[in-house]
Amino acid sequence: MNSRDYYTWWQRADLCYQHNQLIFHGRSVQQLANQFGTPAFVYSAARVRDNLVRLHTALNAVGLAGRFTLHYAMKANRFAPLLTLLKQSGLCGIDACSPFEVEHAVSCGFVPEDISFTATSLSWRDLDMLARYDGLCMDCDSIHAIRRWGTLKPGTAIGLRVNPAMGIGRVDNDKLHYAGEVTTKFGIYEEQFAEALDTARQHGLRVTKIHFHTGCGYLTPQLDQLERIIGHCFAFIEAAGTVERVNIGGGLGVPHLPGDQPLDLDQWAAVLHRQFGGRDLHLEVEPGDYIVKDAGLLLLEKTFVEKKQATTFVGVDGGFNIAPEPAYYNLPFQPLPLHLDGDHPTFTPMTVVGNINEALDVWYAEAMLPDLADHSHLALINAGAYSAAMASNHCMRGSFREFLLMEA
Ligand SMILES: Cc1ncc(COP(=O)(O)O)c(C=O)c1O
Repeated sequence: MNSRDYYTWWQRADLCYQHNQLIFHGRSVQQLANQFGTPAFVYSAARVRDNLVRLHTALNAVGLAGRFTLHYAMKANRFAPLLTLLKQSGLCGIDACSPFEVEHAVSCGFVPEDISFTATSLSWRDLDMLARYDGLCMDCDSIHAIRRWGTLKPGTAIGLRVNPAMGIGRVDNDKLHYAGEVTTKFGIYEEQFAEALDTARQHGLRVTKIHFHTGCGYLTPQLDQLERIIGHCFAFIEAAGTVERVNIGGGLGVPHLPGDQPLDLDQWAAVLHRQFGGRDLHLEVEPGDYIVKDAGLLLLEKTFVEKKQATTFVGVDGGFNIAPEPAYYNLPFQPLPLHLDGDHPTFTPMTVVGNINEALDVWYAEAMLPDLADHSHLALINAGAYSAAMASNHCMRGSFREFLLMEA
């Protein structure tokens, strides 16, 4: 990769170099790192809001105004100030996937009616806890879940998560597919759908929603596949006969690499309009990544620079355990220097690694970085989703802090 591509594709008005200093949310990133210490996640409230508004605008523009609801998938980032901000924005409800997520969302101001619940492998303990939240929109992902929910909440309305045996995701990344050729645990397959409807009927449950989330990280080239999946799911909707709402899951991706183009939301909304515009169905979308991923940076301190064989390694004071996506899903978080010195800095490939004793603890192979002698820190982009929320205390190196930057 050449250094120009490395430094151009991600820059935008609120994340860019100004006078050679990296600026995020109107603030000098170096000053943020000095003030907050490291490792620290910083999130931009303004960027989160912009991302949400962009989704609303696209759906409104194709004529779906008043006919859709966004549910933020809080598994992406459950930082309490962020959830409260989202509640106050009035722009979205919540997609929760565990009883404690429901409790946490409620503690941040959401009411059960705002929450769409879609989970897997529910225990009695889980269900007992969920049953305390009247008004929660429950999506059952198996016949087992329908039976158990039916004994606890007979006569209520439910959604059914279905599995169309078709997946979607970032190109060439099977780890992000939740359905497809390989049989997965998610949702009810067509072959079991009649039995699922029967089970719901036996328990007096009304099936008013069909839900399908079949993968993560899709961009514009995957929109044809999204349309095929939605088209396929109408068979479930028609078979149920009582469906009022359709939840197409999340999965909207953001660029990670220089060659990636941002998801074209007009084309995305056009797909949804073609499929739902002429039908009397309320649409639900539950994005996580799209709302928060590019609104977060991970600030890290440089620990060493050393050449080993042909590779120059740059060490930082945080490892894959506090932001596992690059290691688990092959989704690199690009490292950036906090300042660029001189008019013509030279860039050389360096491999940025963390502080965990595991070979997979590589943030980015061959990052195009300047001479780092005068640099104390690096910032990783795209760290707003599936990072802090998935962190572990592996090697007892799990400590980090989070900061929500409010309007500049
Ligand atoms: C059921 C469900 N909905 C929504 C999401 C959010 O996905 P994303 O963050 O890719 O939009 C997930 C993520 O795994 C999910 O499992």
